Amino acid sequence: VTGVRRGYFGLLQGDYAPLAPEAVHDIIHRGGSMLLTARCEEFRAPEAPARAAARRRQARIEGQVCVGGEGSLRGCLALSQAGLPAVGVPATIDKDLPHTDGTIGFDTAVNTAVEAIDRVRDTAAAHERTFVVEVMGRHTGFIALAAGIASAAELVLVPEIPWTPAAVCDRLRHALHRGSRHHLVVVAEGAARGEDLAAVIERETGLETRVRILDHVQRGGSPSAADRDLATRLGAAALDFLLAGRHGVMAALRGGLPAAVPLAEVVEGRRALDPGLHALAESLSL
Ligand code: F6P
Repeated sequence: VTGVRRGYFGLLQGDYAPLAPEAVHDIIHRGGSMLLTARCEEFRAPEAPARAAARRRQARIEGQVCVGGEGSLRGCLALSQAGLPAVGVPATIDKDLPHTDGTIGFDTAVNTAVEAIDRVRDTAAAHERTFVVEVMGRHTGFIALAAGIASAAELVLVPEIPWTPAAVCDRLRHALHRGSRHHLVVVAEGAARGEDLAAVIERETGLETRVRILDHVQRGGSPSAADRDLATRLGAAALDFLLAGRHGVMAALRGGLPAAVPLAEVVEGRRALDPGLHALAESLSL
């Protein structure tokens, strides 16, 4: 088994790292990537996948597992179309991939966000302040919604569900009227900039408002037990699919069971955020 360093960049360069059992037997608790990672614009060029596939064949590599989010899975599809057997594994904190119960990293990111929000809550309560906490998620609100529910935030703002600053301020005034003297607003980075929202809230409501942007803190640290479990099972499923000759698919868990989903369906599809869950989050909190 050979690892490729720095993702598709390393694939084009032939930058490999042997993955003998002793190299990987003590890494399950580690964050980040022992193989490093990189965003590789070069791999988007039309001839790049064929170049990478040829290089891999020279190195007598028979199949490839690509671990990552949407961009990585698009690359995986291109590799497989260029004739190199390839299977994808969904790994992104954003959970913005369809046809899979979960994506590796999401649970850890949500737990990290919840822990941070709990700490912020102590100051919010003691000083009777409003806090806006901005979480990642790129163009989606899955992290915000999960972290907002687990923190019983007063408001959860996500890009998928329309909202206005005026409505946010109204809801905070209403909460104040009902006796709530501190408030937590969780905002997905794709819905608004935390600073902008905090400024509007303070200006319009007079509530003392602070902002915390969690950014890359959510992407590091030791993985949660759920992520270790998911990664272990998806890795095993990916290998099973490769050995069984099923290529051009993403290894997923669906309803808790391994499934091979055609990569074309994954990259063309969209994961929908559950509006009912969002409504529940907000109905419980104010
Ligand atoms: O896709 C994962 C993610 O962490 C997003 O949530 C975020 O928008 C983006 O990557 C940040 O990317 P970078 O570290 O390149 O700024």
